Amino acid sequence: MKYIIANWKMNKTFSESVLFINEFSKKVGNFSSTEVAICPTFLGISAIKKSCDECGIKLGAQNCYFEDKGAFTGEISSEMLKDLGVEYVILGHSERREYFKETNSVINKKIKSALKNELKAIVCVGETREQKDDGQEFSVVKSQLSECLNDIEVKMFKNIIIAYEPVWAIGTGKVVTETDARKMASEIKKFISSEFGIFESCPVLYGGSMNSSNAEKFLKLPEIDGGLIGGASLNVDEFLKITEISEKLSS
Ligand code: PGA
Repeated sequence: MKYIIANWKMNKTFSESVLFINEFSKKVGNFSSTEVAICPTFLGISAIKKSCDECGIKLGAQNCYFEDKGAFTGEISSEMLKDLGVEYVILGHSERREYFKETNSVINKKIKSALKNELKAIVCVGETREQKDDGQEFSVVKSQLSECLNDIEVKMFKNIIIAYEPVWAIGTGKVVTETDARKMASEIKKFISSEFGIFESCPVLYGGSMNSSNAEKFLKLPEIDGGLIGGASLNVDEFLKITEISEKLSS
């Protein structure tokens, strides 16, 4: 099973989200071995929900707050997302870390809240260009993992997906080599089983400038369980092609 997850970021108004899903749902076939999810803005979630349900596409959010309710002006809780029929939530994306100053410890609380409310957490990790040039990518990713996943019950790991997104590859058109992607994904899997005692291997997605021209080379790697796709998920035909590549490779 592969996961193809669209991260729309702060793109598409309510009306544009509806247009996308109307066109996408007309063209999309059935998936037997790919789980496709779209993570629109919070407003886009209700816009596309009905059509997603009808064509078997799952819904995700791009963030949540860690408290269930209360005086937290401007925030949305994982409980609220669950109530809306959302199944996935992206947490710890590098843009949230950079622009909204989210730390590993805040991300850890958000993951716990998401898991408590029975959402699947897509936890993003990845190094900067500088860290890679210094040969620190493995230590950076391992420390993000150990802090973000600190103190999470073993039985909860079935609802955790890791997205390896090198910061320097996001939105830049640059991607990691297949060798580096394989090595990192397998290090992440090994680290999670040794650090947290998880025997079933945790799905690891690749993210960072994935598109229909390079998707195959990542999705065919046995260590990579799917993709988290930003820019290329905004166009119906482009996103459709990626889902078809995944379906062809995993069936
Ligand atoms: P990108 O973004 O595909 O536009 O590089 C991926 C992401 O940030 O999740």
